[in-house]
Amino acid sequence: MNIFVTGGAGYIGSHTVLQLLKEGHDVVVLDNLSNSSEESLDRVEELTGKKARLYVGDILDKECLDKICSENSFDCCIHFAGLKAVGESVEKPWEYYNNNITGTLNLLAALRDHNMKNFIFSSSATVYGDPEIIPITEECPKGTCTNPYGWTKSMIEQILMDMAKADSDWNIVILRYFNPIGADASGRIGEDPKGIPNNLMPYVTQVAVGKLPKLGVFGNDYDTPDGTGVRDYIHVSDLADGHIKALKKINEKAGLCIYNLGTGKGVSVLELVKSFEKANGITIPYEIKPRRAGDIATCYADASKAKRELGWEAKYNIVDMCADSWNWQKNNPEGYR
Ligand code: NAD
Ligand code: WQD
Repeated sequence: MNIFVTGGAGYIGSHTVLQLLKEGHDVVVLDNLSNSSEESLDRVEELTGKKARLYVGDILDKECLDKICSENSFDCCIHFAGLKAVGESVEKPWEYYNNNITGTLNLLAALRDHNMKNFIFSSSATVYGDPEIIPITEECPKGTCTNPYGWTKSMIEQILMDMAKADSDWNIVILRYFNPIGADASGRIGEDPKGIPNNLMPYVTQVAVGKLPKLGVFGNDYDTPDGTGVRDYIHVSDLADGHIKALKKINEKAGLCIYNLGTGKGVSVLELVKSFEKANGITIPYEIKPRRAGDIATCYADASKAKRELGWEAKYNIVDMCADSWNWQKNNPEGYR
């Protein structure tokens, strides 16, 4: 198939492009490189011997989208492009709503105008807010998001549902990712955050590589087994595989479907630190800090719907994820730079 991947130079996008090329698909990427570099796609080419065609451009640019859709015939669009830093979204809400929502509306219009109505969307467990049910099923009502980033995902989901309802030609798969970590086993591609990382795993790997002195653990008084926050960490290569399986669902022309992509296992901050130490033989110094605003105690998936309907389930465990995150970081202490 010919697949259009927005945001394909980014962390999850590059791992998905890798898997798409390995599966024999043709790939066209649109990325404005605002949070990534072409180097990730060069490395994907090195790993596969195949090239994804890159358009450096913006989903806010309607002419650019129209040009790409005129020059190509796509079987499906996988839409990763978006801004994703939770804290930054609180500081710059307009930029987040504009980039993520206006950009997605532009993209959907271009695809609709060119009659290419197969679409996979990167959503997030953040749409559940503080979840009413644990483990979280797709039936769990969407909740109150604690930041503009989360609202962009929630609102885009609503837009997609309304579009699918109004026009049955659309086939849309919404994938709600839990906490993606890890890197391709080659250690050639991985997560490359700018500045001091906000997320736990890149912070841990930067402590391990000596760029940061110690980890701050945000709260040890949550209602969890050891008091620290519990999340469902999922290997990025498993996530990429979820998109391959979603493509098969798109071909069944099932309308709009929603899936959680997680392992179904909750891991606390301290358990993740211990797993990292065990997997890599490195001690991670840490100190307990106050809770971080907006954090919830526990979030993990019931991933049985994806298993049942997509034939997808996570293969990698937390030790594999820690080993692969470190393999990437130690071989690329400065990321792609
Ligand atoms: P990323 O920042 O590495 O990738 C996003 C890519 O989109 C980047 O390459 C960036 O340059 C590009 N981009 C941003 N705005 C653009 C625009 N206007 N036009 C063109 N390109 C643009 O992030 P990621 O972690 O790979 O996330 C991919 C998607 O998955 C995002 O939509 C994100 O919200 C979603 N998601 C991520 C996580 C996570 O924890 N990483 C969890 C749930 C959902
Ligand atoms: C995980 C746990 C922290 C950093 C975020 C977004 C979510 C989704 C995934 C995109 C929490 C603790 C963290 C640190 C710590 N992204 N922590 N010290 O907050 O679950 O989810 O990324 O959709 O929308 O909100 O992930 O990695 O930031 O935190 O103790 O330096 O680690 O408190 O319990 P989170 P995270």
